Amino acid sequence: MDSKFYITTPIYYVNAQPHIGHAYTTIVCDTIARRQRMLGKDTYFLTGTDEHGFKIERAAQARGITPQQLADEVSGAFKATWDRMEITYNDFIRTTEPRHKTRVQHLFKVLCEKGFIYKGSYKGQYCVQDELYVDSAGPGEPCPVCGNPTETVSEDNYFFKLSAFEDKLLKHYNENPTFIQPDTRRNEVIAFVKSGLRDLSISRSTFKWGIPVPDDPQQVIYVWFDALANYITALGWGDSDAKQSEKFDRYWPADVQMVGKEIVRFHCVYWPAILMAAGLPLPSRIMAHGWLLFEESKMSKSRGNIVRPDTILQVLGADAMRYFLLREVVFGQDGSFSFDALVQRFNADLANDLGNLASRTLTMIGRYFKGEVPYPQAKAALTQADHAIADLATKTIAETNRLFDEYQFSKALETAWGLIGAVNKYIVENEPWTLGDKADGESRSRLGTILYTSAEALRIVTALAYPVIPQSAEKIWTQLGLGDVRKVRLDKLKWGQLEVGTKLGKVEPVFPRADKSAIERMQKLEEENKPAAAPAADQPAGTGARAGQPATQAVAPPSAPTSAPAAGEKITIDDFAKVELRVAQIKVAERVKGADKLLRLEVDLGYEQRQILAGIAKAYEPEQLVGRKIVIVANLAPRKMRGLESNGMLLAASLGEEGKPVLASFLEDVPLGARLK
Ligand code: MSP
Repeated sequence: MDSKFYITTPIYYVNAQPHIGHAYTTIVCDTIARRQRMLGKDTYFLTGTDEHGFKIERAAQARGITPQQLADEVSGAFKATWDRMEITYNDFIRTTEPRHKTRVQHLFKVLCEKGFIYKGSYKGQYCVQDELYVDSAGPGEPCPVCGNPTETVSEDNYFFKLSAFEDKLLKHYNENPTFIQPDTRRNEVIAFVKSGLRDLSISRSTFKWGIPVPDDPQQVIYVWFDALANYITALGWGDSDAKQSEKFDRYWPADVQMVGKEIVRFHCVYWPAILMAAGLPLPSRIMAHGWLLFEESKMSKSRGNIVRPDTILQVLGADAMRYFLLREVVFGQDGSFSFDALVQRFNADLANDLGNLASRTLTMIGRYFKGEVPYPQAKAALTQADHAIADLATKTIAETNRLFDEYQFSKALETAWGLIGAVNKYIVENEPWTLGDKADGESRSRLGTILYTSAEALRIVTALAYPVIPQSAEKIWTQLGLGDVRKVRLDKLKWGQLEVGTKLGKVEPVFPRADKSAIERMQKLEEENKPAAAPAADQPAGTGARAGQPATQAVAPPSAPTSAPAAGEKITIDDFAKVELRVAQIKVAERVKGADKLLRLEVDLGYEQRQILAGIAKAYEPEQLVGRKIVIVANLAPRKMRGLESNGMLLAASLGEEGKPVLASFLEDVPLGARLK
């Protein structure tokens, strides 16, 4: 094997459990990796977890565990999920592993020696959510990537001379038009670089959770510098033992580095500049995909709108998820996920189209030809319909391969399914079952032709679909009596390779149809996996206040206390101490579609950012609220409203009959997270 293929996923942050947004990236890469292996390439597929940085330190703090404990737990969850999904990664790197840390330090030293790193001081804005320096924002202004307010940081840091690479990067983009794909992302990156590059701060001294800067342990290496390096440290680059870097020599530069569209700049600007500075070759291609949306917004932990891969695995299996994501989402664009659409696709394309083709064809070969692939008629005796299927199959192989090569997964599958549709129609029109009981030679040979044609088309479609639906394709392949589907060479796939006399394996249904209860089961699994929620009630703010009487109360999601003391009854200080009231700042505020009273807020508690829903949309415009400091009940059990999770509630006075909310606030400046007692 003389050609290699190296593909990487981004490495996943360990502040959130895996959801199907993460799974999407991994599935796309796994599909590409499986396909490249079937094209005869020596393929290496890398994934892993990104475990350092302030965000992780803070998330661990909020849970009262060490960052390492958090990293071990969540990294383990990612790996276990990929294993349950049978993802064929060759290596899973963790940035807290010694092999990674020492090699990152080596990279840092190399760049220092080459004069690309210097010490300076930085004062500016930083986005903790994206771990991103935002030069364009002023104090308090939002991050252009995620919209959260940036924080002002001021410290002595090490800087990477990014500005020295402006022209070199532009030249590289120019000379390698497919380096960044799709073109929309390429254009954005070019515009960004043309607008001027400033040197990049690549160390932090305000927290500890990171790889120490060599010879300056007061500083830790900036998490993106650390994380990006994984793509070469995992291959052994930067090790003092030369034997360790054999993989690097074999596989680097990467053929495809897959990223979500929000991290294009890191991969298309910083990463190539770091590689140029180190004198290393650049990856052939950075490929950006869109977001998976759920309930109309990006699936993410902070929004609380996630679906876990395990839910789908348990009810419909990995192939259903893989097929849905690749068929339904136009690669490169955003796409929506819903349980309804998932089940609909599963039933229509897998259970009906492919499942029926396989079961009819194989069952009839079993019944009429004792489970052995029959002879087709001589070429001269073939009908136009037989020829049409063979021709279509030949075209389908070429077209599907081309579309897969161009990462047009949805169209590739649509094309392959076009052949399935045509063969199912061919079977219905040719009615092989009417020939089954006839013993005359002509009927037998006609029957043999129809079933050979169907089985051969099934074989071709199964091989083409294998990278997307590997578990089902393997089952169909075994039922066809063909051994190991992974050994098929997709570049050599041709009509007529199915050998007459092949003995079928045991024929069983591959895709049992999903009924309505599948959706309910998945929804139930998601609900069960959420922390216990209080009953939801989308009431106006202030329903607890007596008409005309001002009251201070918690505002939406309106609480539904079941054991509230009777009027006039006193509570003890211990009762009050149970309620954790804290100062938080509103970072994001937006209306919730379909709920005219509700706002979705992202609030910062200093140690943690979270989403809460508040029934104050009639009293406040979202824009008025961003930046305001408020009081929230921080230890309220989460609850779901309109599909969104609310983690706490804010306090407001409730005025008049309508219960108009007025937010509780302070005259003095108070730090975020301060407790009210
Ligand atoms: N740790 C960084 C990447 C460092 S790579 C050197 C990071 N991690 S992440 O966990 O936040 O996201 C990793 C990837 O997960 C994203 O680039 C994207 O590919 C994928 N996705 C996370 N949420 C997603 C959706 N809702 N939809 C699609 N992909 C999503 O960024």
